[in-house]
Amino acid sequence: MRAKIIGTGSCLPDKIVTNDSLSAIVDTSDEWIQSRTGIQERHLVSSETETTLSMAVTAGQAALENAGISPTQLDLILVATVSSDFLTPSTACMVQKALGASNAAAFDINAACSGFLFALNTVDAYFQAGIYQTALIIGVETLSKLIDWSDRSTCVLFGDGAGAVVAKSSEEGMIACLQGSDGSGGDILICKSRTNNNPYIHTGTDLDYLYMDGQEVFKFAVKKEPECIHALLQQAGMQPPDVDYYLLHQANYRIISSIARKLKLPLEKFPSNVSHRGNTSAASIPILLDEVNRNGLLAEGNILLLSGFGAGLTWGAALLKW
Ligand code: UT7
Repeated sequence: MRAKIIGTGSCLPDKIVTNDSLSAIVDTSDEWIQSRTGIQERHLVSSETETTLSMAVTAGQAALENAGISPTQLDLILVATVSSDFLTPSTACMVQKALGASNAAAFDINAACSGFLFALNTVDAYFQAGIYQTALIIGVETLSKLIDWSDRSTCVLFGDGAGAVVAKSSEEGMIACLQGSDGSGGDILICKSRTNNNPYIHTGTDLDYLYMDGQEVFKFAVKKEPECIHALLQQAGMQPPDVDYYLLHQANYRIISSIARKLKLPLEKFPSNVSHRGNTSAASIPILLDEVNRNGLLAEGNILLLSGFGAGLTWGAALLKW
């Protein structure tokens, strides 16, 4: 049995921040941001009530409603995030409590922007092993709290939000999936946790913020993601044109169009929302999936390829029948 996605949901914070608004905070411009990334605006949390948990719960509820599944039918909840509100309990456990999903085991996965794909692949493995049958998978980030808002090279890129899917154990659905990691590249996209400050060691109290070597991440993405897609298609005995839609991690429209070019495919096969969402890390693929699903773009039997890359370094992909 494999994982079949039977419902999707998403949640975005109310506040929309345009490129022009950011140019009042840092030395940047709408022209620079749009030409280098394709981003025009992004949603950012702007009230105490908008949290990683609140967005995860709202997206999860929407996915459950879309799937026609009640919370107590869930036996697994996985949340992919690097920006939990708490170090412990996990966001997944807090989602379980908020939804009343009392029969579900729940835990978080940290694979940065590839996190949703790692979670989906994990669910598929559990289903293949016959351990669980019904899962809620959420990708959620409040990256705005990890950003140095005086660093123009990162603060213009990211947005907050959550996306979710309900997956059911089924004869059809996932065709093939893969995931990979290269810890030796970890330094090019990094955010340290709090420093040690116990009675025996003082290593400072400064909070760390996200650091990214953008050009190195760009080079990694445009090389690794097409390799990953080719490997996955080969595993399934398929060719790039056999896929109806490629739902890629929404980091930068230049990366998405470079991948389309490398696969020799038209951009119509690559739905994108990076212009209005920015890079929402682990949430980007499930938010996009929910939007194309609710916009009626997907038909039963469509072949979808989901693929992404991120800090770690990590990469992952999933090929599935809708
Ligand atoms: O999901 C996580 C994955 N992250 C990514 O996918 C990011 C991948 N990398 C990228 O998307 C691109 O590398 C960026 C969009 C981050 C940067 O684009 P770039 O074309 O690689 O620009 P750059 O870093 O080479 O910077 C070019 C110039 C520099 O000025 P000088 O040295 O040429 O004078 C930067 O200081 O642009 C400057 N710059 C900016 N200017 C205006 C950097 N950020 C900004 C900014 N506004 N926000």
